Amino acid sequence: MELPTKLVNLSLIQQLREDALARIASAETKDALEAVRVEVLGRKGALASFSKEMGRLAPEERAEAGKKLNAAKQELETALEQRLAVFEQEALGRRLDAEWLDLTLPAPGPRPGSLHPVTLIQREVEDLFLSLGFRVLDGPEVETEYHNFDALNIPPHHPARDMQDTFWLDGGRLLRTHTSPVQVRGMEQFRPPLRMIAPGRVFRNEEVDASHEHTFYQVEGMMIDRDVSVAHLIYFMQTLLRRIFRSDVTVRLRPGYFPFVEPGFELDIRCLICDGEGCPVCKQSGWVELMPCGLVHPNVLRMSGVDPEEWNGFAFGLGLTRLAMMRYGIDDIRLLQSGDLRFLRQF
Ligand code: DAH
Repeated sequence: MELPTKLVNLSLIQQLREDALARIASAETKDALEAVRVEVLGRKGALASFSKEMGRLAPEERAEAGKKLNAAKQELETALEQRLAVFEQEALGRRLDAEWLDLTLPAPGPRPGSLHPVTLIQREVEDLFLSLGFRVLDGPEVETEYHNFDALNIPPHHPARDMQDTFWLDGGRLLRTHTSPVQVRGMEQFRPPLRMIAPGRVFRNEEVDASHEHTFYQVEGMMIDRDVSVAHLIYFMQTLLRRIFRSDVTVRLRPGYFPFVEPGFELDIRCLICDGEGCPVCKQSGWVELMPCGLVHPNVLRMSGVDPEEWNGFAFGLGLTRLAMMRYGIDDIRLLQSGDLRFLRQF
């Protein structure tokens, strides 16, 4: 900007003001703005040199020129600030555009995993029984013959041992064929009254096909108290099944034989697919066999140090794998341990 050669007067101030406003308005960059600021408003700028000259004006001109000078100064400062704010706003807009992020998109990197269908069912069963005052117990997968058979009223010569094809290990141990040994371990560890469930893996030396696996999951359940009856058993089973199938279920008990319960039952539910009318799922019978159960045999109580004169209870064995298959409509048990991600990602 040209430095004024004439003595300061109102029209010079006016002209300086207009030029500067025009430059501010057309400035394209922060640097251009800064240049205007230095030239006009800076310590050695045009307005400063006008101020210095004020002393040389006649007193009557001085007041008027002083006012105009101050007004111009304020106006230009405001114009500069506003223009700068526009630049900053634009810069922010560019940055936001560049850094825009859609937080609803899946995170980059490996896809998060999901729980296995058997685990999902297991957790539901655990949550329910915890809410009913049961403990969740764990037992060893490598068991003693005593816990897997003898303590469950299955003596060495008993035909029930043939009911389960067992993986025997060196030293007389075995891979547990059911979760029932945890009943025994529960009674050994805790005195009655006792409410427990024991989910876990079990093993049978079985030919594998669409409905048989050598490795699968069960949940054992047991309640020991005074005067436990079949009515209690039915109540707990119905509560469990309602929760799992998320609908009302009708159950029936048929006699069933297991050496560790007396009486023993097979619990069936009315087929949820056809509502008892008969369909391929229930093999036209209207009922689906779901779990064996019964009142704990006095011998089993006695062997674990529980007096059957004082205490009794019920027990049940639920096929977790089977339940998961029914709940999710899985028609081949081998899928569960296939490790096939196309299958697993559906849960
Ligand atoms: N442990 C048995 C099995 O795997 C199932 C079973 C039957 C468990 C009756 C029980 C019961 O607790 O009372 O074949």
